[in-house]
Amino acid sequence: MSDILLLGQTLRFTGDPFAEHAEAANHTRHGAVLLRDGLIAEVGTADSLRAAYPAAAVVDHGDALILPGFIDAHAHYPQTAIIASWGLRLIDWLNRYTFPEEMRFGDPAYATEVAARYFDLTLAAGTTTVASYCTIHAESVDAFFGEAQARGVRALAGKTCMDRNAPDGLRDTAQSAYDDSKALLERWHGQGRLSYVITPRFSPTSTPEQLSALGALWAEHPECLMQTHLSEQTDEIAWAKSLFPEARDYLDTYEQHGLLGPGALFGHAIHLEPREIDRLAEVGAALIHCPTSNTFIGSGLFDMALTARLRVGLATDTGGGSSFSMLRTMAAAYEVAQLRGQALHPSQLLWLATQGSAKALGLEHQIGTLAPGMEADLIVLDLTSTPAIAQRAARADDIWEAVFPTIMMGDDRAIAQTYIAGKPVKA
Ligand code: GUN
Ligand code: ZN
Repeated sequence: MSDILLLGQTLRFTGDPFAEHAEAANHTRHGAVLLRDGLIAEVGTADSLRAAYPAAAVVDHGDALILPGFIDAHAHYPQTAIIASWGLRLIDWLNRYTFPEEMRFGDPAYATEVAARYFDLTLAAGTTTVASYCTIHAESVDAFFGEAQARGVRALAGKTCMDRNAPDGLRDTAQSAYDDSKALLERWHGQGRLSYVITPRFSPTSTPEQLSALGALWAEHPECLMQTHLSEQTDEIAWAKSLFPEARDYLDTYEQHGLLGPGALFGHAIHLEPREIDRLAEVGAALIHCPTSNTFIGSGLFDMALTARLRVGLATDTGGGSSFSMLRTMAAAYEVAQLRGQALHPSQLLWLATQGSAKALGLEHQIGTLAPGMEADLIVLDLTSTPAIAQRAARADDIWEAVFPTIMMGDDRAIAQTYIAGKPVKA
């Protein structure tokens, strides 16, 4: 494959902006990224890479900012069509809007239609990797991975398991959850850029037997991640505890069944108890912050101080979350942190949406960084995509001030281009 040389501004983190200096990044005003065989071959200045690779096909993105693609570490693609459903909190929202919609995904044609629409929306929004829940139906997993594969997208997903507290037609059993998850894992995990994730929805919709069966599957396949929900709303927490009276806390409902480890991804994790935080840190599990969802469903304010002890990824939680855009999600993360007296630096927001999520997913050696050897999943961010953003960016003194208006006010119009494995997605 021939070389492609992208020109634009570039930004590359030199450290974790939460652990080190917030501005621990290299910004190059006239930068360049060389793409070869789906990977980033080199990152440098426009002048030096033009001189070194005179035969490369040049794509000049002008003043736009070239970044790693956004990584959405927790989403529900089957909720695409019910995003922005009005007026309810978590349990009622699940019963009224989510479960009836998820019921439809036993139909492979419908599952494929929604999966295709989902990838069209997220790629347009600059999301190049997603970790998604599917539904209880194997068809929903096949549809999602099929559409990801057709686009060459790196994607993670699993069959959502539920064997109680869900309506007829949307329950499996402990045994069928194990059998179906195992068959799907064997079919899809490691196929190209796809990864299977063992996915109990959350403790309230699984019997102890089902959680144990999935814990056993995870023990047989430690190469896979495990994703679920934890401590999202106070009444959900009380319900989980009442269903597992022997558990020390919500986290323990998972640990007692073999569902806690460094490859565990816990969505939301808002109302954690001190023991839960200590235990999560001890085993090195990851938390996934879903700020638009946490405000939309009225769940609470995630504590960003947890980044000092735990890996934290960022996510839309579509369709509990109110946007497909990781820009909108970064803006919500900023606002939620402000409500807790924490001001997140633009570097921290961008890092969360790229390297932070990559680290949470254990994919930091493949994606999330603008560096040689990484997969060439990139976005090109127009920092002047609307008149409102452009007039503010015109007053910027440095790259952080130039990018912050796009973080706070930007949407898919700011995504000038999305590259998947070195190939442009937008016409
Ligand atoms: N908890 C269990 N299932 C879900 C879901 O689909 N969305 C959210 N936000 N929380 C959940
Ligand atoms: Zn979720």
